[in-house]
Amino acid sequence: MIKRPKGTYDIIGEDVPFWHHFENKAKESARVFGFEEIRTPILERTELFQRSVGDETDIVQKEMYTFDDKGKRSMTMRPEGTASVVRAFLENNLMSLGLPQKVFYMGPMFRYEKPQTGRYRQFHQFGVEVIGSGSSKADAEIIWQAKYLIESLHLHNYTFHINHLGCSSDRKRYKEALKDYYKKHYNSLCQDCKIRFDKNILRLLDCKNPNDATLKQKAPKITDYLCEHCSAEYSDIKRQLKQLSIEFEENSFLVRGLDYYTGMVFEVKYPYADTVLDILGGGRYDQVISDLGGKDIPAVGYACGIERILSIMKEEQVEIKVKPLSEIFVLGMCEEAEPFVMKIVRFLRRKDISVEHDLMGRSLKSQMKYASKIGARFTIILGNEEIDNGIYIVKDMETGNQTSVESSWIENYMMDKLEE
Ligand code: HAM
Repeated sequence: MIKRPKGTYDIIGEDVPFWHHFENKAKESARVFGFEEIRTPILERTELFQRSVGDETDIVQKEMYTFDDKGKRSMTMRPEGTASVVRAFLENNLMSLGLPQKVFYMGPMFRYEKPQTGRYRQFHQFGVEVIGSGSSKADAEIIWQAKYLIESLHLHNYTFHINHLGCSSDRKRYKEALKDYYKKHYNSLCQDCKIRFDKNILRLLDCKNPNDATLKQKAPKITDYLCEHCSAEYSDIKRQLKQLSIEFEENSFLVRGLDYYTGMVFEVKYPYADTVLDILGGGRYDQVISDLGGKDIPAVGYACGIERILSIMKEEQVEIKVKPLSEIFVLGMCEEAEPFVMKIVRFLRRKDISVEHDLMGRSLKSQMKYASKIGARFTIILGNEEIDNGIYIVKDMETGNQTSVESSWIENYMMDKLEE
């Protein structure tokens, strides 16, 4: 038996309506805020992620599904969506359509991580990006859109964490301060952090190792190193969030796991089982477009992890409407009934009504069982007697009531019934 790859899963049965529900809500939230859909390839040139997400990040260093294709080009299955959106923006000259470009995307991402609660190797993100606005209004807009989506899913226990990573000279000064601080504690750092110390010191603040997490508490904070401009920008974002009644916590150690962030960053945390999940994260990335060969165009966005959100929705028993697969089952009791069954099925399907009939050669009893299993609202029953008399039986599957209906009128009767 061939099994699915570790860290992946099948979306089947009762999970499917949850996915549809999320997808509909996400698209609706995008529409309300004026975002258009963009679909990019799952496969990209490896260089795209090296030059945007950052060569020193865990994602690029350890987690990418990278391989040489038959033409000996290094290809990567996208670990996130932002880099691809920027590539598509540049390649398709979307700038010519005017700025800002506001796009959303939804689809699978791939990271070779150790599978655990809420962490998969193939997972799905919904993300939005505003390309072209450097205004703090765009930062607030993104957070507002995220809140709108979360609330529309009836999730309330969320906390927004925000921070500001300053401009490049702020970060330079901050990194020096971090180096001074961590130099004194170098020997007690975990092995990974010793490497991060040299290569990308900000990543030290991301470390989950308990000793490093304790050390972090006394580390310098980026917010103490912001220049006047960045500090004013951060205050303005916070002012707007307050105006929009969006509650948040300031978290001056929030640096995110990707290297492209430049100004405001944020995450949404949500308690789940005995842990806290990051369900959503994003921020400003004003240099990615020029780093990938475009003009100096600012951008901001976020992405959320769909699996994590769905797990929380299930745990919180958020109710979603599940439409039955088929509304009507047409049940033939004998072989002679078949053309009559098919006539009804064809008519109703032409009217876009979901109708099923038996494909298994089942007995009356097991056809009835099947009709109930698929959640059909009505079953139309016909056998020799019904055909001879020109009267069919319609069973309401919820109440069990049966009604006799003239065969020439059956289709109209069913259509009226479904509208009730
Ligand atoms: P990220 O924080 O790497 O950001 O991922 C966003 C979200 O994807 C996370 O908050 C989490 O919910 C989900 N996620 C990440 N890894 C996994 C995994 N292995 N299994 C399940 N869920 C996962 C980005 O990807 C950025 N591109 C976000 C962004 C958009 N920034 C600006 N624009």
